[in-house]
Amino acid sequence: MREVKVVLLPGDGIGPEVIGEARRLVDHVAPLDGITVTWESHAVGGCAIDAYGIPLPDGVMEECQEADAVLLGAVGGPKWDTTNPDDPRPEQALLALRAGLGLFANLRPVKPIPSLYESSPLRTDRIEGTDLLVVRELTGGIYFGTSGREGDSAFDTCTYSRAEVRRVAEVAFESALARRRKVTSVDKANVLESSRLWRDEVMRVAEEHPDVELEHMLVDNAAMQLVSRPADFDVIVTENMFGDILSDEAAMISGSIGLLPSASLGGHGPGLYEPVHGSAPDIAGQGIANPIATCLSAAMMLRYSLDAPAGADAIETAVDQVLSVGHSTRDLGGACSTHEMGELLISAAG
Ligand code: NAD
Ligand code: IPM
Ligand code: MN
Repeated sequence: MREVKVVLLPGDGIGPEVIGEARRLVDHVAPLDGITVTWESHAVGGCAIDAYGIPLPDGVMEECQEADAVLLGAVGGPKWDTTNPDDPRPEQALLALRAGLGLFANLRPVKPIPSLYESSPLRTDRIEGTDLLVVRELTGGIYFGTSGREGDSAFDTCTYSRAEVRRVAEVAFESALARRRKVTSVDKANVLESSRLWRDEVMRVAEEHPDVELEHMLVDNAAMQLVSRPADFDVIVTENMFGDILSDEAAMISGSIGLLPSASLGGHGPGLYEPVHGSAPDIAGQGIANPIATCLSAAMMLRYSLDAPAGADAIETAVDQVLSVGHSTRDLGGACSTHEMGELLISAAG
């Protein structure tokens, strides 16, 4: 048996509910690759503000750096929402982890399964054949630029260097090589200087990948094309904030944001895996959240960080099977509880 260490950051709201199911599922499939997982849980986000007064308690970053992977639920909620710039915010923990672990590339795959076509607000003929990957830049842009208040004004700045654009573009082109060999770079180059630099550097990276087709698309058009012809996209590469917004939009192609996983990669240390959705305060504590996005994030963790491809395949196949026979949680129109869905996935995973 090979031992691997995973830091578990359940967080707030539905975070602990969905993380519980993903953890049991990973323990169930771990023997398929001959691994045993040692889990180490830490409070981050709102629960850490309550317990320690800060969103990312001392030592958690170091524990993450020493682990093989990090699995996170979600952070945040109305209890900690504030407009006072001096108050701590749960989301600071997540941003600090992404930056501290050097996780510049966030992969968000969107591949709706046929049995759920009817759950999407989009018509089936639009959804059919959709299999896209959003590669979101995760440690730069307006999220990490200089910001502040000056009297009655406030500002956030969006800065990108060529090096930051290049490394995430390379991830997108490498990903496209193993897929349908097309990259759509999304920017706002008709307005923003940072987008014009983005576009220029992406073109340079494209020259080094002649087997991959590159198209540029302005972000407002991309938002529209995503719902009108999603099947035409293969890899979408875009800056931090555009990627945040477009990936929530893309989630609805598959029927629910409760299905969408993500992997954040790039540093020399561990990857961080988390569902695309948040802490869903409107349904937290009811045991009805969809745990599939977190379970599929755990599958990405098994594949990319833990060298456990059999377990990853088992989880992904189990999700397809369970949904195909008609089981689903409330967000998809079904009646399964979070825990019942977890149990179904465990049975289907063999
Ligand atoms: P949200 O993703 O939490 O919820 C949006 C809607 O989707 C809600 O109606 C919610 O019930 C539903 N939903 C989300 N996940 C679901 C699931 N697994 N199953 C069923 N339904 C689900 O977005 P929000 O309401 O804008 O944000 C709530 C809080 O979460 C905020 O504090 C925000 O900052 C935080 N957030 C955290 C993360 C993260 O930790 N990675 C991501 C996004 C938002
Ligand atoms: C996400 C979330 C985060 C983001 C928030 C909670 C900081 O929306 O992971 O998509 O904007 O990156
Ligand atoms: Mn988001």
